[in-house]
Amino acid sequence: MKKDLKSLSDLSAKEIESLFRKATLLKKERKRGKVRGTLRGKTLAMLFEKTSTRTRVSFEIAMRELGGDAVYLESGTTQVGRGETYADTAKVLSRYAHGILIRTYGQGIVEELAKASDVPVINGLSDLYHPCQILADLFTVGENKRERRKVAYIGDGNNIANSWIQAALLLRFPLVVATPHGFEPDRQILEVARNQKDVSVIITDDPVEAVRGAAVVNTDTWFSMGQKEEEEKRRRFQPYQLNQKLLKEAAPDAIVLHCLPAHRGEEITDEVMDGSQSRIWQQAENRLHVQKALLEMLLK
Ligand code: CP
Ligand code: NVA
Repeated sequence: MKKDLKSLSDLSAKEIESLFRKATLLKKERKRGKVRGTLRGKTLAMLFEKTSTRTRVSFEIAMRELGGDAVYLESGTTQVGRGETYADTAKVLSRYAHGILIRTYGQGIVEELAKASDVPVINGLSDLYHPCQILADLFTVGENKRERRKVAYIGDGNNIANSWIQAALLLRFPLVVATPHGFEPDRQILEVARNQKDVSVIITDDPVEAVRGAAVVNTDTWFSMGQKEEEEKRRRFQPYQLNQKLLKEAAPDAIVLHCLPAHRGEEITDEVMDGSQSRIWQQAENRLHVQKALLEMLLK
């Protein structure tokens, strides 16, 4: 049976643990210059309907370093862009490639692709979720020994916020999300969180309450891909900017995460991004190691 990663809820806590053990090993091996050929002869088809730096490059290099290959497809230059269905595309790509990565808009597209595909489908970001990113974020939290401590997410209730909530439900760490009214995370995901016992996911409009005592402070752009940049929204989000003053409310040993790309001076200041508490570059690097482990798990 093939396994997909449409969202984090496709994984169990145990599987995440074993992914991270593998990622740790792969990271060490890479530093020593050791090459693995575990995915020799395997190809990942990567269909992008939105722009990307990290996801594209880290997946492409991950495949190469594991002895496999990757094919980059942009919807605008493929027949999907002219209306060929995602299901038909999936059936065809399944006969060429051993896995399909998609970055797209609606989560329904990821679901349609996964349903029709005979090979594993990986969500490389949709409007609703960004599971590969949050896996790397969680791995970074573990490397910094901040597991099970309070995580704060401040800003827009977007794909990153939704995936953090799924992560908190799976791994049972306390999470507080602060967004302005009207920009809360996805309703259905919040409903699931409300109905699950023994988890602490709090949604507030108070950024100070969210950050207070947190060991991990996390933010993301106020304008996700596909959203219009509006002055009114920028103004409403101003109190949610991750700056030094807000960061002072966190635990003294708190670390700062941002999935990138950042709008410096908007959701995060230069001072925080480049400061001593930032683990943002380590987080970006970890995309490579964690995705290698994921590719081995799904494609081998
Ligand atoms: N964080 C992330 O997914 O970055 P890209 O949009 O550059 O892929
Ligand atoms: N929320 C952002 C994440 C980018 C990696 C977006 O969807 O554009």
